[in-house]
Amino acid sequence: MEEVVIGRDDEDMKKYGREGTIVLGKHLVGTGEDAHLTTSVLLDVLRPHVLIISGKRGYGKSYSMGIIIEEVLKLPDKTKENICALVLDTQGIFWTMKSPSEKDADLLNDWNLKPKGFDIYVCVPEGQEKTFSDAGVEFDDSVSFLPSELTADDWVSVFDLKPNEPLSILLQRSISKLSGNYTIDDIVSKISEQKGFDSEKLALENMLEAAKTWGIFGESKMPAILEPGKVTVLDVSLTSQNVRSLLLALISRKIFEERVMARRKEELAEIEMTSLKRVPLCWIFIDEAHNFIPDEGNSPSLEIMQRIIKEGRQPGISLILATQRPEKLHSDAIAQCDMIISHRLTAKPDIDSLKAIMQTYMLYDISKYIDELPKLKGTAIILDDNSERIYKIRMRPRQSWHAGASPILF
Ligand SMILES: Nc1ncnc2c1ncn2[C@@H]1O[C@H](COP(=O)(O)OP(=O)(O)OP(=O)(O)O)[C@@H](O)[C@H]1O
Ligand SMILES: [Mg+2]
Repeated sequence: MEEVVIGRDDEDMKKYGREGTIVLGKHLVGTGEDAHLTTSVLLDVLRPHVLIISGKRGYGKSYSMGIIIEEVLKLPDKTKENICALVLDTQGIFWTMKSPSEKDADLLNDWNLKPKGFDIYVCVPEGQEKTFSDAGVEFDDSVSFLPSELTADDWVSVFDLKPNEPLSILLQRSISKLSGNYTIDDIVSKISEQKGFDSEKLALENMLEAAKTWGIFGESKMPAILEPGKVTVLDVSLTSQNVRSLLLALISRKIFEERVMARRKEELAEIEMTSLKRVPLCWIFIDEAHNFIPDEGNSPSLEIMQRIIKEGRQPGISLILATQRPEKLHSDAIAQCDMIISHRLTAKPDIDSLKAIMQTYMLYDISKYIDELPKLKGTAIILDDNSERIYKIRMRPRQSWHAGASPILF
């Protein structure tokens, strides 16, 4: 039986074969406990993709994300130098990828693999450095932003305000009077200069004072992400959801702008047949993605994420979105995704949300495919819009340490 490459259409299949692919696991054939493993299932990394990883709690979403990250770092140099990644780590579980998973040596041996640590670049918000070091978390760098890098809309959204309420209007007016590199104190003093808004001024000043404790403001320190073969993990586990989302917005806007510029230069070089130092394509991994690209309500990262979902193919940005609740993910993400890896899911609205995409070539109801999975962690169905096929898979074991296991009482 032939190896399965997901995310690759027939034309690319003929042209590239298995070049530019990574290994996800093995094809599962048969149903339930009688299912057995056959050939490898590979994933295309040559083209940009939107991949959703869904499944209920504890069935392997974050683990599967880790497999893809490991595989990116195992690519041959020639391919690896054209790819880089940003991992938004909401639970603080990816920094352990630097350590080999010695405890799984036997399991890995069955797959002809060995425990292995990976060279990831871990960053934390600048103001949280001490907390992370005190907790014994190893990190390589920190990130910070100038308050002036936030737009008025960013502030409105991170404070969870409605655009038309007086607090937002006061904020927008005050910020529009500032230019250059300004601080939170500069915003506060502009607020106090505004006429009227007496009851709103104090509330807004308090919100801005509180923002100083988020740990994300400083001298604007952003480690380079678009570097050949580099995987940057941003640990936002100690940051509240709105601030996490703001961080994602600020960073992914930069990635998007840089990649759009780079793509223009690349196309020009192609036309003029000149050589060019390439800026790698970027894969952005987002765990708990429904909080960053929500179907209801706003989130500071929603706008740029929607933009990447719709326009990211051209500048070469891929998204890997893990979620327990695909139903709560913005419909743009569901509509534009070209692959789904779904571990066990039971809630009907979530199953139905996946159904919406690939109905045309599904022989049976999607819940039938999910029910056929053996009740083992790491098994999943894959819906591939590129080949218009559905597969069952057993994801391979992780070579590096996975920190997301549930604690047990004994
Ligand atoms: N492919 C696999 N092979 C072996 N074990 C696995 C595999 N996938 C997951 N597991 C096991 O399942 C556990 C839970 O997986 P994981 O942390 O990825 O869950 P999750 O779906 O991200 O859950 P949550 O929604 O709570 O974040 C892992 O700690 C690991 O022990
Ligand atoms: Mg998880």
